[in-house]
Amino acid sequence: MKDTVMTSSFLSRTSSKATELNAKPSPDFAVKLAQTKALLQLANVEFQPLTQASSLGAEDVVITHLINQLQLDIPVFVLETGALHTETLALLERTQAHSRTPIHVYRPQQEAVIQFIRDHGQDAMYQSMDLRKSCCNIRKMAPLAQALKGQRAWITGLRKEQSNARADVPLQDNSEVSTKDLTKFNPLANWSWGDVWHYIASEGVDYNPLHDQFFPSIGCAPCTRAISLGEDFRAGRWWWEDEAAKECGLHVKK
Ligand code: ADX
Ligand code: SF4
Repeated sequence: MKDTVMTSSFLSRTSSKATELNAKPSPDFAVKLAQTKALLQLANVEFQPLTQASSLGAEDVVITHLINQLQLDIPVFVLETGALHTETLALLERTQAHSRTPIHVYRPQQEAVIQFIRDHGQDAMYQSMDLRKSCCNIRKMAPLAQALKGQRAWITGLRKEQSNARADVPLQDNSEVSTKDLTKFNPLANWSWGDVWHYIASEGVDYNPLHDQFFPSIGCAPCTRAISLGEDFRAGRWWWEDEAAKECGLHVKK
């Protein structure tokens, strides 16, 4: 179900701390947390080698925290597209310094990025959807393929509530097993935005300060903006495109 955001939490802007605004657990939060931990433990035992994909957004810092807390053998990877916010890069550095599990960084091929900018300019993503997708292919999809090479499974922070397109996200997604031999785990699939922030607040998890500036969903800087009262959760991503197109390819089934 779509989060017609600005969940009531966002309705008051008397405070801008995302933890204070959003930390409202569901009545069954403890059950969901236990389910998430059990799933991570099962994946750790039965699906090696596996890895967590982290954008360093709120959901992903929760998962990395759980991996560390449960002492699981699950490394994390971040696709550093070369277009991330300075706040995200600073969080990446802090996470690398403090995480028990390794944090691997994958970057796009510099020559491909330079050639793309030379051919289409810095602002190509705003010119057409084809150019936007080409940029995502170079900066995200190619590094993703490298990050997933040889893996049996990967873990993401997808949640059902994030958008209509994600309303059916399962805890365990086997749809890529036959084509890519890859299982995808979405351990927070059933979590609400309030659950995510309740965990961050109660465990004191480090998070991206952009969340305090009304960026619920954070991607590359040119393609992410803050949202306003009443806007959807993903309204700040690729805001100039149709809602249906708002995916970069990481999670879209061809
Ligand atoms: S996106 O497809 O629109 O970019 P979104 O930002 O909602 O995805 O993130 C969904 C999940 O995709 C994250 O929880 C994370 O698992 C993965 N992901 C997104 N961006 C990155 C990134 N830069 N590096 C690694 N994983 C990412
Ligand atoms: Fe390029 Fe924007 Fe896609 Fe990032 S999100 S790879 S800047 S088009």
